[in-house]
Amino acid sequence: MLILGIETSCDETAAAVVEDGRCIHSNVISSQVKFHAQYGGIVPEIASRKHIEVINQVVESAINDAKISIDNIEAIAVTYGPGLAGALLVGVSFAKALAYGKRIPLIPINHLEAHIFAVHLEYPQINLPAIALLVSGGHTEMVLVKELGVYETLGRTKDDAVGEAYDKVAKWLGLGYPGGPIIDKLAKSGNHKAIKFPRAVIKHGKYDFSYSGLKTAVINYTRNAGHSLPVSKRLPLPEGLPLPERLPLPERLSLEDIVASFQEAAIDALTSKVMNAIKDTAATSIIIGGGGAANSRLREQLNERTVDKGITLYIPSLVLCTDNAAMIAGLGYHKYNAGKLADLSLGVNPNLKWDE
Ligand code: KG4
Ligand code: ZN
Repeated sequence: MLILGIETSCDETAAAVVEDGRCIHSNVISSQVKFHAQYGGIVPEIASRKHIEVINQVVESAINDAKISIDNIEAIAVTYGPGLAGALLVGVSFAKALAYGKRIPLIPINHLEAHIFAVHLEYPQINLPAIALLVSGGHTEMVLVKELGVYETLGRTKDDAVGEAYDKVAKWLGLGYPGGPIIDKLAKSGNHKAIKFPRAVIKHGKYDFSYSGLKTAVINYTRNAGHSLPVSKRLPLPEGLPLPERLPLPERLSLEDIVASFQEAAIDALTSKVMNAIKDTAATSIIIGGGGAANSRLREQLNERTVDKGITLYIPSLVLCTDNAAMIAGLGYHKYNAGKLADLSLGVNPNLKWDE
């Protein structure tokens, strides 16, 4: 069965054709990142407008790349939440119009479930139950996957998502947007043991996460350290803030060391909780998904912690970690088989919980 997937929940306009939930015939992604970069984050109004401008062309490319005609498509799967309301609306309206015009079924997809599903596109058999860690720009969640479609949320972030913390720290340090890939790359040449940033302790909710404290710790640290950095690496201080006091610092602390230490604390919090969940549940495998799953230190730490322990680690390739429509079309096939279809009254749900 050939399904067209459409994804417009954030800043990527994506369309893909997937057969029987497994075989990817095309996977087209048009990123808007350069339009948002100058603002240091996503501007919802720009996101909606850019989706409208390119969606026709993106869907057409997905059909052409798959070397089929639009008439071969048997159903349309579309992200209806969570995400930016205006952005979601573009994909959902487009999908509804096309489904109506072609008289084919419409399948509503939860973006978060699709991120976790993404590994199924590459691994024929997943050992379940599994602990799934979802790390994206807007979400940091850990769930127990009992079977496809049956989930138990174990924990989530109490404040910032980990991707958000990367983006905010990068913005503060004047490194650009999006912060994840930039910090990840820069951290490779830093010493991750240079600064011991705090790991959040959360009183209630053993599997919950918190990232605003770490973000503030990095900001405070660099405000204090600003004058000690080499001239070429000096950090821009925001206007209106009192001049930072200098703290006694190691002589040669670099920007690379700061971001590597931030990254170590951020990733350590994720992997420690995943390993605790593995101990506490019957799960013997780990799935990661979302833009943050592209992080090289997360992949490295999970590999280190699971090697020789009889735990299977499922990591999707980079293109399936970040927002894409192959995961939407792929999951769509399973939802179609389970009879989970929508009619033309389908609306968007910006706050859709991931297991709804
Ligand atoms: O899943 P995604 O593409 O979009 C959302 O649904 O949010 O995730 C985007 C997020 C951004 O915050 C970005 O900074 C982060 O994923 N990200 C990374 C890396 N690549 C992307 N975070 C850490 N390390 C990376 N290599
Ligand atoms: Zn996403």
